[in-house]
Amino acid sequence: MTGGPVRRPLTPLPTPFEPAPRFSEAAGVEVWVKRDDIGSIGLAGNKVRKLEYLVAAALAEGADTLVTLGAAASNAARATAAATAQAGLRCVLVLGGEPPDAPSGNVLLDGLFGAELRFARTGDWSELDRALHATAAELRSAGARPYVMPAGCSSPLGAVGFVHAHAELAAQMAEAGIAAEAVYHASSSGGTHAGLVVGRALAGGGPEIRAIGVGHVHRDMPGAYLEIARGAAALVGARVELGPDDIRLDMSHMGPAYGVPTPAALEAIDLLARLEGMVCDPVYSGKGLGALLTDARSGRVRGPVVFWHTGGAQSVFEPGVAAGLWDAIGGGPPFPRGGAPGQPPAGRTSSTGQGA
Ligand SMILES: Cc1ncc(COP(=O)(O)O)c(C=O)c1O
Repeated sequence: MTGGPVRRPLTPLPTPFEPAPRFSEAAGVEVWVKRDDIGSIGLAGNKVRKLEYLVAAALAEGADTLVTLGAAASNAARATAAATAQAGLRCVLVLGGEPPDAPSGNVLLDGLFGAELRFARTGDWSELDRALHATAAELRSAGARPYVMPAGCSSPLGAVGFVHAHAELAAQMAEAGIAAEAVYHASSSGGTHAGLVVGRALAGGGPEIRAIGVGHVHRDMPGAYLEIARGAAALVGARVELGPDDIRLDMSHMGPAYGVPTPAALEAIDLLARLEGMVCDPVYSGKGLGALLTDARSGRVRGPVVFWHTGGAQSVFEPGVAAGLWDAIGGGPPFPRGGAPGQPPAGRTSSTGQGA
């Protein structure tokens, strides 16, 4: 591998790699967590690694504005807003759906980071993409120099962040003496998976990388992932042959739709929070962890296994998400949940029967 694209550091690396002993006991397999939910900018998450390369490229080509698109509560949009704030760039976000009645979660953070929000009044990805390019054209004709990024910051250049992340994990696993069987991560626009797959090919093997799909961002999801991976490989000068079999995308844990919590995700979020003090969200990371839990219980994975925590916990503060989670853990009114001081919380049991 050659030196490859330039990185503009946004967060200290490596991110922590931690055992999760109490969660492991509940899952029945040894689980380690790669903590990309921790970082120093924009409240962290997997998009930061991609933005380190994208912001560097934008600055190198003299751009003054970053433009991207996403779902209304997009983590990529929020991380982009934070990265542009730090780089002194303007940020324009084309977001799906209608403007919310009140700012909360990532929309609130987008505004705090100084981004300009344009709600496209549609959730359709191809319409959003058209709105993105129309916005960029409008900015150009007004004299701005926009750098346009695809959904989820998942260009080949963004994925380069995860090529390097794979080497980072390999070093941490070696140091911890872990030979993991598989790595699970939530997946949607594909940059995370594409980069990790290239990293694995460069390493000549390693744990299987299992992408747990949470939404249909591309018409041909595996095809789009492969294209991003091949582009990232070319950018880092990797002489690797990548084919459809290298993409391990499992859409079977998505549930009825993007953003709709699944019972497995809710249980996984509950267990990880209660047994390890870590927070996942029901849109992304919770579904990744739910898949890991399901596979551990069915014997599909025996461990050790790595859960790549891609962040996104901000969405638990969205009113609708918060209410669903509260219900799922058996919270219920009146507040606060639980009994008198010194007594265990009421109404909260785990299907594994393990108390906290
Ligand atoms: C928290 C979180 N996890 C995982 C993903 C999926 O990553 P990728 O878009 O690289 O597939 C996203 C994408 O928005 C995300 O916000």
